[in-house]
Amino acid sequence: MMPALRRFTEVDGLISMPRSATYPLTLADRCGGEFTARCYVPEDRAELEAMYEDFEPKRRAQGLPPEGADQLRRWLDRVLAQGVHLVVTVEGRIQGHVMLIPLDSEVVELANFLHQSIRGRGIGTIMNRLIVEEARAQGYRRVWLSVEPSNRAALRSYRSAGFQLLPGSMWAQEVEMALDLTPETTVSDDETRP
Ligand SMILES: CC(C)(COP(=O)(O)OP(=O)(O)OC[C@H]1O[C@@H](n2cnc3c(N)ncnc32)[C@H](O)[C@@H]1OP(=O)(O)O)[C@@H](O)C(=O)NCCC(=O)NCCS
Repeated sequence: MMPALRRFTEVDGLISMPRSATYPLTLADRCGGEFTARCYVPEDRAELEAMYEDFEPKRRAQGLPPEGADQLRRWLDRVLAQGVHLVVTVEGRIQGHVMLIPLDSEVVELANFLHQSIRGRGIGTIMNRLIVEEARAQGYRRVWLSVEPSNRAALRSYRSAGFQLLPGSMWAQEVEMALDLTPETTVSDDETRP
């Protein structure tokens, strides 16, 4: 018999473990559907590109994902050459891509792109939380991002994952959000506290 799907809250303890031990993770979305979060591997490239070709709307987030096959390929070449990349699969097909791109040795930029067929089911928020824990596990101090103020799903999802709006950015074309990371408190730290 297949084991019951783990709810996200039940894997909180797992997600700061090293990547190899953390993924793949098969989880339930808010509607009871199943999805898997796993590390991107180079063999995924063609399928990832196909997801972005079908992605709507294009250029929603800072002009991303780009419109046009060449621009898309060049963008993927650039981002996949660095950082941390997770993909979301549903029924074995790649339907989402969440990434951390280093801005310097302490700060990473987060971007999250889910295919329109799987939005609004809580998957984006779960993936944001997972990748934030990945940033923490890898020793980064801050996760930063920018988003259009009209992108309500993105804003709410980032807020739920712990991001705060940076001051002064509310009326700009893009708002900036950030989350400062502190090292995970270990169980033994808790136990030794008076
Ligand atoms: C932004 C994105 C990653 C969010 O992921 P998602 O799985 O669709 O969002 P969730 O289902 O986790 O919902 C997050 C929140 O937004 C709300 N929400 C979802 N869709 C919404 C919509 N169309 N309009 C307004 N609010 C919406 C949810 O109710 C939830 O709010 P809550 O936390 O208060 O309950 C996803 O929609 C996406 O990939 N969009 C296109 C690309 C993009 O804009 N990426 C962001 C780049 S900065």
